Amino acid sequence: MSAIVWHEQKITRKQHEGLNGHRGLCIWFTGLSGAGKSTLANALEQRLYESGVHTYLLDGDNLRHGLNAGLGFDKDSRRENVRRVAHVAKLFADAGVVVVTALISPFREDRDSAREIVSSDSFIEVYVECPVEVCMTRDPKGLYEKAKSGVIKEFTGVSSPYEPPLQPDITVNTSEMSIQDCIDHILEGVKSKLY
Ligand code: PPS
Repeated sequence: MSAIVWHEQKITRKQHEGLNGHRGLCIWFTGLSGAGKSTLANALEQRLYESGVHTYLLDGDNLRHGLNAGLGFDKDSRRENVRRVAHVAKLFADAGVVVVTALISPFREDRDSAREIVSSDSFIEVYVECPVEVCMTRDPKGLYEKAKSGVIKEFTGVSSPYEPPLQPDITVNTSEMSIQDCIDHILEGVKSKLY
């Protein structure tokens, strides 16, 4: 039997949401490196913030400097990375905040676990679709070049798999749509869950 006891907290999620004037949600971006996750997540957060929504952005790259420092890119590390971020996202959603996450999160099973951790009715999976060839051409950090020459191992889309969502809540294709159009499309899908 565990010696750790759960304490009920006085202020409920409903109360947090009531004070904020909207529901707590997790908007989970997934996609290849260079697909545009961080760009879209930032633009979306800005639009929500400007309309009075309480937001916070959890960016995979940034979290790997702190909370997830020390985790690598093998399958187990990516799973742990996603698990930790899902739990943090759940806390934000419980606090009535709209948390936007931007992680490659390449494995379906791990994203499905994240949905379960956060709770399905407050989790919105956004697939940032972009052909790997386009991501390679963009190569904003020069990582694809390093991956192709073998300097970086287990790089998603080159030497490590990416499993696209089978039934994402929202899909945007950044090789065909402008950032503005992507954000409008995402906001359309988010609105009904937000209020
Ligand atoms: S994951 O798969 O969800 O655990 O990855 P994430 O935490 O989002 O971190 C992805 C960023 O790390 C950089 N990087 C790599 N990505 C993929 N594979 C390998 N091997 C790798 N090594 C470093 C890269 O900058 C990713 O950022 P984005 O913004 O996706 O380009």
